[in-house]
Amino acid sequence: MRKLVACFLAVLMLLISPLTSLAESGEKAVASCVACHGVKGNSQAPIFPKLAGQNKKYLSKQLYDYQLNNRKNPTMQGMAAALSEKDIEAIASYYAAQTIQQIAPPAADDEDDDEESEADSPINHAEQIKMGEMLYTSGNLETQVPACGACHAPDARGNSLAGFPALRSQHVTYLVSTLKQYREGERQNDAAAMMRKTAKRMSSEEINAVSAYLADLK
Ligand code: HEC
Ligand code: HEC
Repeated sequence: MRKLVACFLAVLMLLISPLTSLAESGEKAVASCVACHGVKGNSQAPIFPKLAGQNKKYLSKQLYDYQLNNRKNPTMQGMAAALSEKDIEAIASYYAAQTIQQIAPPAADDEDDDEESEADSPINHAEQIKMGEMLYTSGNLETQVPACGACHAPDARGNSLAGFPALRSQHVTYLVSTLKQYREGERQNDAAAMMRKTAKRMSSEEINAVSAYLADLK
């Protein structure tokens, strides 16, 4: 019996150790990311995207794109420059395994950023979210905005096989900013210009609405 237990423990250790070391290497590799992207990828500040629960394929593509300056951001280019392929693998696996959380915006320290939606009355906010949901699920036939859910999945959890990003519970400020970057052609790392073509057809009102809807999705 004791032999059996020892044997069982040995097998258990064998099974667990590679897992823990991968998790540990992920945790080590993200040490320099925590300041902006938060503990376990749930950033507090609305300009820093949450990374928790994002799919691995999308995360690693973004890191390579920053390295190559295909996605232009001086801060992230600097952060990504030092990462090896192995680091990127560990980091992407680590964040993909975390759970995204909604973080209540800090009370009234918003100063005067351009997020007018937060100052809206609850009724306007509800209307805005409804408009965002409509756009997300059905697109806009008149202006030929495609339905976002077709690529990002109906529940906005993305498509991990294709590397299409999850969008739910992301910070509204970041979503608005990155959609506007696509619209202005400042963010150009989307294959076949999928997102540039989409964002070009969107009004600012639609960008704000769909972002509010997505940020609100738990
Ligand atoms: C000083 C703040 C800062 C630090 C530190 C930082 N980041 Fe970022 N990160 C940003 C900002 C700002 C953006 C959005 C930039 C943009 O618009 O392209 C971003 C974007 C990203 C994205 C793209 C997310 C998305 O949804 O497209 C990934 C992935 C990422 N960072 C990973 C990391 C990793 C990994 C580290 C640590 C090695 C790190 N970051 C460290 C500020 C930071
Ligand atoms: C044809 C497929 C397709 C459609 C339709 C589409 N997207 Fe995307 N979207 C993508 C892909 C692919 C990416 C990632 C590009 C990359 O690899 O850098 C992306 C990226 C994004 C990002 C950046 C995520 C991040 O973390 O930085 C946002 C935000 C986004 N899409 C919102 C939308 C919205 C809102 C709609 C609908 C109005 C939409 N998308 C419609 C394929 C699509």
